Parts: sequence; structure tokens; C-alpha cells
Amino acid sequence: MTSNAHIDLSKAVYVLNNAQHICILTGAGISAESGIPTFRDKQTGLWENFRAEDLANCDSFVRDPELVWSWYQWRRSEVKDKRPNPAHEALATWQAKAGQLGQTISLITQNVDDLHEQAGSQATHLHGELWQNHCSECGQTYEEAIDPAVTALVPCKSCGGKVRPSIVWFGEMLPQEPWQIAQQAAENCEVFISIGTSSMVYPAAGLAQSAKQNGATVIEINPHPTDNGLVDIQLPYPAGEILPELVAQLSQAKN
Ligand code: APR
Repeated sequence: MTSNAHIDLSKAVYVLNNAQHICILTGAGISAESGIPTFRDKQTGLWENFRAEDLANCDSFVRDPELVWSWYQWRRSEVKDKRPNPAHEALATWQAKAGQLGQTISLITQNVDDLHEQAGSQATHLHGELWQNHCSECGQTYEEAIDPAVTALVPCKSCGGKVRPSIVWFGEMLPQEPWQIAQQAAENCEVFISIGTSSMVYPAAGLAQSAKQNGATVIEINPHPTDNGLVDIQLPYPAGEILPELVAQLSQAKN
């Protein structure tokens, strides 16, 4: 790590050691080192000619439900064997130590994978969860995962409607409670950390602005820094590399 990086890391450790409420927003980049492509990575294989934005879309499901359903079943088959990387593990370690450090850590994620939970974190999902489904007609929820090998549409047991993934699609409203939790956390934190997100999709991308307006210091962990002018401390490194180092230094400072 360059000497500048050490300086930026020390700045991040300093502000975090003096913060009581911390809000963390993660995006697809935190799962990249677990082998899950990010949203803006080009699609591969059978799906290389499709854009995620065109498939994660309510109109597409109405127009061609089989196509959208089979894309999600493919994504589930791709994700099912993936495991947390050191970035997820570092956040889980930090959350476990929060009490001892005298801190509250709100972990908000745009991701629909369950790698934060697998690592032991408690995360608030803004865009839904990949393994959950509900009926597109009557709303009946289906908590148990549907085998990714089932590529045919699944009829709802209650009304016979088409079962869909419980993912927030482009143009749909975010679930109310998770969004309220996220807004509260962003508005009441002293430090806001954006990890592995291109900060392109609202309203999630607006959380950093809310934090900043309320006086928070904004830290970004992303090898390709976003140039939104909000970031006070830039850590342009893969999350799996820098987060374990950051969390280790935090814990030392308080022992
Ligand atoms: N560590 C940290 N950041 C990384 C890493 C890494 N190892 N690898 C890639 N990144 C960064 C990329 O530079 C990029 O800025 O992660 C970001 C991923 O951006 P996107 O693919 O746009 O994913 P995300 O920001 O989570 O998308 C937000 O958009 O498509 C919708 O609902 C979808 O939740 C998604 C939302």
C-alpha cells in the first residue's frame, strides 16, 4: 500500500474512532471478490446480449415472464455456491465488536445476495433478496427458495398467478421499512461509508448526500472512485483488501 494510502487509511481510522453512529452502504462491488459479477459488469454466457436493466424490470416480466424468470433462476444458480469474502467478514467482525467499541453500525445494502448474512452480519436490503419470491397477482409470499433448476414459471398456490422474484425492479418503489431505516441511519450518522457501489441508482445513491447534509464525513471504498464530490476520504482499493486492514486498526485503537 502506498504511503498516501496509509495516510488516507489513518484518516479513516481516526474519524471512525471518534464516531458513535456509522452508516455503511454496500453495492455489488463488495461481492465482486466472491465471484459475483457487479451490475455494470457485462453480462456473460447465454445472457451476454441482454442488459441487467432490461431484465430487472416489471414491464419485461409482463411482456416475457419466462425470460425474466429464467434469468433470475440462472442468477440464483450462479450465486448459490458463492461465499463471503474478507470484506463481508471484516464488516461482520466490526458489527460484532460495535458494542465494545461504543458504536452503532447500520449496514444497508443494495445487494440481493445473502453474503452479508452468511458472514454473520445483520443487513437492511433496499432492493430485495434474491432467494425470496411472491405472487405477481395476489402478493402471496414464498419464503422457501425455489430450486434454480426450475426454469418453468411457477403458478401461485393461492390464485394461480405467476410467481416472481421479490426483487425491487427498475421503476418500482423501495420497500418502505428498509428505506426508512436507511434514511434514519444516513441522517443520524457521523461517518457514512460507501463500499462497492457506482452510486448511480437512486434513491439509494442519495443516502451519501443526506449524510453529508447532516454533517457526516463520507468515506468511499471503490477501486474506481465515483466523482460525485461528496467523498471526504477516498480508499481506491478492493474492499476485500482494505476493509480487513481498516477493521483491524479500529479494534486495536480501542483495546
Ligand atoms: N471492491 C470495491 N468496489 C468494487 C470492487 C471491489 N473489489 N469491484 C468493483 N467495485 C465497484 C465498481 O467500481 C463499481 O463502482 O463496485 C461498483 C459496482 O457498481 P454497480 O455494478 O453499478 O453496482 P451497484 O452500485 O451495486 O448498483 C446499484 O443498481 O442495477 C441496480 O438494483 C441494482 O442494486 C443495484 C443498483
